[in-house]
Amino acid sequence: MNELSMWLSANTSLEPVVNKFGELFARERMRLLGDKTIAEYVARLNRDSKEAMNLYQHLSPPETWLFRYVASFEVLREELQKRDRSQMIHVASLGCATGSEPFSIAATALSCGLTPSHIRILALDYSDDHLAHTRTGRASALAQRTPIPQWAANWLHPTPQGQLELDAQGMAMIDYQRGDLSKWKPDRAFDFVFCRNVAIYLNEQSKRRLGRMLDETIKPNGLVFLGHADSTIFTGTNMRRSEMDHAFAFCKHEKANDKLNPLALGLSQDPWVAPFIQSSSIAGKPAIAAVHKIISTTSTRRTDSAPASSAGVMAARASMDVFTRAQIAADSGHLVEAEKLLLAYLAQEPTAIQGHALFGCVQMAQDKYADAQRSFTKVVYLDPLNGLALLSLAAIAELGGDSKGAQRLRDRAARTVVEK
Ligand SMILES: C[S@@+](CC[C@H](N)C(=O)[O-])C[C@H]1O[C@@H](n2cnc3c(N)ncnc32)[C@H](O)[C@@H]1O
Repeated sequence: MNELSMWLSANTSLEPVVNKFGELFARERMRLLGDKTIAEYVARLNRDSKEAMNLYQHLSPPETWLFRYVASFEVLREELQKRDRSQMIHVASLGCATGSEPFSIAATALSCGLTPSHIRILALDYSDDHLAHTRTGRASALAQRTPIPQWAANWLHPTPQGQLELDAQGMAMIDYQRGDLSKWKPDRAFDFVFCRNVAIYLNEQSKRRLGRMLDETIKPNGLVFLGHADSTIFTGTNMRRSEMDHAFAFCKHEKANDKLNPLALGLSQDPWVAPFIQSSSIAGKPAIAAVHKIISTTSTRRTDSAPASSAGVMAARASMDVFTRAQIAADSGHLVEAEKLLLAYLAQEPTAIQGHALFGCVQMAQDKYADAQRSFTKVVYLDPLNGLALLSLAAIAELGGDSKGAQRLRDRAARTVVEK
């Protein structure tokens, strides 16, 4: 392990596969800052907390948009409408990035006729910069990637710069907190928690802790919304995938619907294993993290902090390449559309590693394990040191009951971090 990986392991809770991208970033920063060796850069990280934060933000980017996975907000809306209004409702957006998620929660609450005296929304993130952006109440044009539900549109006001600004009543619902989810201890229970696309960046120990913490923190009738690649955090806890299809909502076991999808590959009917398989998240996690990196390191990097005019949005959308559209479709849970786009993309780019990797994730999410295995095998053929695909293949082997094969693949994946 080089000095930078050692520093990241000692000072952050990031997943080692994600850490691997740190070196690319570090080399770029070393050139700009004049550090001649990684050791010099690591010494800088020790004395300069801003540089350390800069590196963290690069490794866990604030990729987000308004009403991402809209089904979650539709479920939230239904649930909010049923709640007793004499009791304060507590919602958390953990890993809120630049604010699109808490803004969407607030707009959903406003659409139900709730006011700041009915609901508090905690917006928590590791990064002060992202929280500062959240406090502006504005989501840039590039955070408008999927349609805003008609019922929420009244609460998001267009600005001359092409942003959408959350209504002042919605802003008054939000509280802000800087926190590290690998250590954070909430001081209260929550009715609804959104913790989406954060766990993918965390190491195994932090993931497990986060799962336990959410299990303990969610009220008995509450819901936790996760990203499609996050649900392994609940392995071994009381949390189960709820009956609300597509919303990726989890609730306490007592409330969960145990009528889960038929388990593929003749696996155990153990309900602990079911949500794990159903979400297909084990393979999704590293690959989706990689896709985030691939997109965020290209010149068409899109985070919602970039200002853009309406014309800019149109142009950005028009020029969005097929792969990016596939990634957005996959991230939004539109798996069939993602599959179609990836087929078109791979017909043009048959050796595109990121295309096969994302295709594998999309196939996993549809329980097409044999297809996913083929896709990840192609990735490894094209890039034998691709730790992400190796981990995904390990997950598939594990699902098929081949624990030894899975361990071999995991060992191989671990070695790639050193070899690359
Ligand atoms: C990909 S964004 C997800 C944003 C939003 N939840 C969504 O799904 O649209 C990941 C966010 O998690 C935050 N994050 C990463 N590690 C964290 C940690 N240990 N504690 C709190 N936030 C963290 C990052 O700063 C980033 O803003």
